[in-house]
Amino acid sequence: MRLVLLGPPGAGKGTQAAQLSRRYSVPHIATGDLFRDNVSKETELGLRAKRYMDRGDLVPDEVVIGMVRQRLARDDAADGFVLDGFPRTVPQAEALEEILDERSRSLDAVLRLDVPEDEAVRRITQRRTCSGCGRNYHLETAPPDEEGRCDECGGTLVQRDDDTEEVVRRRLEEYHTKTEPLEAYYRDRGLLRDVEATGAIEEVASRAQAVLEGVAGDAA
Ligand code: AP5
Repeated sequence: MRLVLLGPPGAGKGTQAAQLSRRYSVPHIATGDLFRDNVSKETELGLRAKRYMDRGDLVPDEVVIGMVRQRLARDDAADGFVLDGFPRTVPQAEALEEILDERSRSLDAVLRLDVPEDEAVRRITQRRTCSGCGRNYHLETAPPDEEGRCDECGGTLVQRDDDTEEVVRRRLEEYHTKTEPLEAYYRDRGLLRDVEATGAIEEVASRAQAVLEGVAGDAA
């Protein structure tokens, strides 16, 4: 299964991508996580990306595309992937098509997760992320068993630098101007599937699953 998850910050892309990755036994590739990993290791790529991420701006296309090209070349992505946060601009979508064309592959579907903006902001400002393994929690809807500690690895839970309300509003602006045009791009190719992303995490997961039934790569 080759899937792209589209949706504004806080729509639940990472949350749903993790479940879909398990369901289809394909890697969950999140460009935000790849950047954050580089930032924490202080690589050249990370230092370059951080300037944009801290402001809520998109990282330039050529930087993201190069990183994704390398990631998709790894063996574990040969039979599929769930892409979370990429593509985010039309040039990124064109680059993805080119990368897949080179391997005589194509996308199976693009899921667009739809939530009202206020709900997205609420979700993000309540998010806490494990500084060890990167797992996400939500203070109200998906809290850890022990306050401030990750259930998986015991790591400390922190708020992402770009999860303040001011930066989230900027990320939403970027989404409207640069990423929303991808809806038409993928609709024209017959790949876009809408998933109502309000309600509990499991409800959204069931809707995503229902939407994917009958999609070419759905062998799970
Ligand atoms: P990235 O990390 O991709 O951030 P984002 O797209 O803004 O998405 P989020 O991670 O904030 O939200 P999400 O939709 O994954 O929601 P989640 O599941 O976590 O990108 C960060 C930055 O990196 C960008 O701003 C940019 O600078 C750069 N970047 C990344 N990719 C790029 C690209 N391709 N091009 C250029 N720049 C790029 O859920 C959010 C919270 O809600 C969690 O707490 C979760 O527990 C909770 N939640 C989830 N679902 C539900 C539900 N149904 N009900 C209640 N709570 C829920």
